[in-house]
Amino acid sequence: METLNVALGDRSYPIHIGSGVVGQMELLLPLLVQPKVAVVTNEVVAPILLRGVARKLRDAGVQVVEIVLPDGEWHKDWQTLNTIFDALIANSCERNTTLVALGGGVVGDMTGFAAACYQRGAPFVQIPTTLLSQVDSSVGGKTAINHSRGKNMIGAFYQPKLVLADPETLASLPDRELRSGLAEVIKYGLIRDLPFLEWLENHLEDLLRKDPETLENAIYHSCRNKAEIVAADERELGERALLNLGHTFGHAIEAGLGYGRWLHGEAVAAGTMMAIELSRLLGWLGEGDVNRAEALFRRAGLPVFGPAMGVGRYMELMQHDKKVQNGKLRLVLLRELGKAAVSDVASSAEIGRAIEARARRG
Ligand code: NAD
Ligand code: GLY
Repeated sequence: METLNVALGDRSYPIHIGSGVVGQMELLLPLLVQPKVAVVTNEVVAPILLRGVARKLRDAGVQVVEIVLPDGEWHKDWQTLNTIFDALIANSCERNTTLVALGGGVVGDMTGFAAACYQRGAPFVQIPTTLLSQVDSSVGGKTAINHSRGKNMIGAFYQPKLVLADPETLASLPDRELRSGLAEVIKYGLIRDLPFLEWLENHLEDLLRKDPETLENAIYHSCRNKAEIVAADERELGERALLNLGHTFGHAIEAGLGYGRWLHGEAVAAGTMMAIELSRLLGWLGEGDVNRAEALFRRAGLPVFGPAMGVGRYMELMQHDKKVQNGKLRLVLLRELGKAAVSDVASSAEIGRAIEARARRG
């Protein structure tokens, strides 16, 4: 087992990464303020993992409330969030009842937001069960639900007390979901960690066949990068925005097509290629850099072109991005491979050209 620390003063917390950590209740039990938890999961994850986790907790004398949500990005909304509050109240959960998110990023983001709001703040723990949530969404305290016109538009910064990332839970993860998670893994290499990008180029096939040691290493280095960024800039006043490489374009794809049509990582991969194309148009990247990034996304089985939605529709949806300041779009671009920057220098025409070059034609 490897352990990282997200250094946030008295809100610091550990990320334990390793095979079997989900079953190691000694990591979780000392954090419980009262011997009662509400495990929030969904209808896909529940039959695979809920019984084992709940049994271990009950064996340790903890009262367990089980909350099973419908599956899918399109359920990351007010209505589903409200079912969490209904269940917490119906089961007399208190402010000291710990919420445990058992699932992917959708369950994690919604459980975290519910915890931030329930009785003005209940403790919560993340047990991420997709690659994407193990390398990204479970760390850093961004919690949210979607609005029909924008991804993650309603939410809060609210940190968990603990993250348990167990690569063994990925055994049942569909291939397409694994590949989606790889988009966020590749992101860390592109924005700030060239040696990690090189390591990924050399180990991609091992990751695709879910080799446990290789997965653990990828999760560790992804979380190391994320923990460093979050510790330096929790509220995204600066460096944290770099984690959104490709996301402004990607969120437009997700919202434009309807949530769930493209997976988050798929949209991020195509969006990253748009950001990379724009970086090339600005003279920051060369043709070789573009080809290198594209080759890695292609090997990971991720899209390198966005869907045909029309440049105007992309631009309209991108205006809802949370990095828009005084009406001006700010984008994460690459100064070079392994070095990202937030920039507003690109003109609308240049952004449109990058989208046109990297979106399929209708
Ligand atoms: P997801 O939560 O929808 O999970 C993907 C699919 O895998 C779902 O069908 C889920 O039920 C299933 N699943 C989960 N664990 C499984 C397992 N072990 N075996 C089999 N199936 C399993 O999607 P995701 O990719 O994990 O997360 C995407 C979400 O995360 C998006 O909503 C995105 O906005 C959010 N996100 C948040 C942050 C953040 O910082 N908070 C960062 C990145 C992404
Ligand atoms: N996934 C973006 C962030 O956590 O800031």
